[in-house]
Amino acid sequence: MQQSSANLWGEFATPLFSARHPQPDSLNQALINLFTRQRTQGNRYANKEGVLSKQVSIFESSWDLFKWPQAEIQALKNFCMEHLWYCVAKSNNYSMEQCKQLRVFTECWYHLTDFGGYISSHNHPNAAWSGVYMVDPGDANPDYPDSGVLSFKDPRQLANSYIDPANVSFDRKFHMGSINFPMQAGELMLFPSYLYHEVFPYMGKRPRITVAFNCAFSHAA
Ligand SMILES: [Fe+2]
Repeated sequence: MQQSSANLWGEFATPLFSARHPQPDSLNQALINLFTRQRTQGNRYANKEGVLSKQVSIFESSWDLFKWPQAEIQALKNFCMEHLWYCVAKSNNYSMEQCKQLRVFTECWYHLTDFGGYISSHNHPNAAWSGVYMVDPGDANPDYPDSGVLSFKDPRQLANSYIDPANVSFDRKFHMGSINFPMQAGELMLFPSYLYHEVFPYMGKRPRITVAFNCAFSHAA
């Protein structure tokens, strides 16, 4: 075989983005204090719109979180949006000047997940990019190594319908099935909103705390 003329490459790739806050401790502690205090006030700060996915043992806030005036919320918003625009620019080969011609519409909320809590597989229609920021991953449980892990599902639904020795050991870039990400405190993940994902049952005592958001874009008028 003439190997010099042979090529192997990937198509239909799914863009994923992660970043770590440089100094997350004080920000995360302020968020923990705020969210924990709010939960004690019953439904006042809770989402009242309903959700499409199955959520168990989770307190979900209203979806206007990034509009709240608290300094810790605005600091988190700035961190998330800065990286979102970088991700949009990088994945579309846009300049930051081109990004400034776009307008973003955002829904944002937080989750407090208690022992045994989970979210079933879902995606986020009517948005281009979604994000998750890990405020506090909670307690590790050695009996449940996948406790609270964020798991993304292969969007090529039939890709793993046949497995044999010729495809079971694919390189990561060709991987089929699901990919799991145990997130650290201060870590941000961005992913296309079409991508199905779930959170495995959380088996720790201290609440697992995340902030999530969806973003849709249009050209600025
Ligand atoms: Fe989600």
